[in-house]
Amino acid sequence: MPTRNLEMRWSTARLDLAPIGMPDSSSLLHVFRDPDVRRYLLDGESVSADWVAAEVRASEQRFASGGGGLWALRPRSEPSVIGFVGFREFFEPPEPQLLYGLLPAFWGRGLATEAAAAACRFAFDTLGWKEVRAAIDVPNTASGAVLARLGFRLARTTDDGTAFYVLEAPPPGSSPAVGESANG
Ligand SMILES: CC(C)(COP(=O)(O)OP(=O)(O)OC[C@H]1O[C@@H](n2cnc3c(N)ncnc32)[C@H](O)[C@@H]1OP(=O)(O)O)[C@@H](O)C(=O)NCCC(=O)NCCS
Repeated sequence: MPTRNLEMRWSTARLDLAPIGMPDSSSLLHVFRDPDVRRYLLDGESVSADWVAAEVRASEQRFASGGGGLWALRPRSEPSVIGFVGFREFFEPPEPQLLYGLLPAFWGRGLATEAAAAACRFAFDTLGWKEVRAAIDVPNTASGAVLARLGFRLARTTDDGTAFYVLEAPPPGSSPAVGESANG
């Protein structure tokens, strides 16, 4: 069961989650610039420090206005940022989507699933969302596997190769639909 304090910092079994802030900018730039992280997430494009700063500001605004922002991921009690998870708006009209990414050295351990489960739980329990949405490039099978492990349902696939997924909020009082065990 993740623990959450009033600053919206979370801990899962293996990760500390803290809302991204300006002090994280250079670490986040390192994550977003990694070629394997940006392959699908950013269509391979690189990003600038200004882009990261704008993302941090936008995330802070979303949290401040009662919406979902992004959290930096750190191994528990360690200072280094290894990735991110949370919500960001895409499409027109803007629609919050679940987003996650880890430096490749941390892939294959179930950490993305663990972090994304905590983010979905926050969306349902704290933000009161009825559903969480996610969109991935069809070839991004690792990301699709994360969504499948969390119980997301494939809603539709578009001709341009984008797959749209939905996870409905668990019924009140039920055991967690998106467990923190992150078992594959
Ligand atoms: C998408 C992404 C986060 C997936 O990372 P991942 O490491 O494959 O996903 P998980 O953290 O859930 O790890 C699952 C793997 O860990 C394994 N694993 C090992 N130990 C585990 C544990 N204790 N618990 C659960 N799974 C474990 C699972 O068997 C699975 O292995 P597999 O890949 O061989 O099937 C990663 O590919 C990434 O950062 N990509 C770039 C950014 C991106 O494209 N994001 C998606 C857009 S939203």
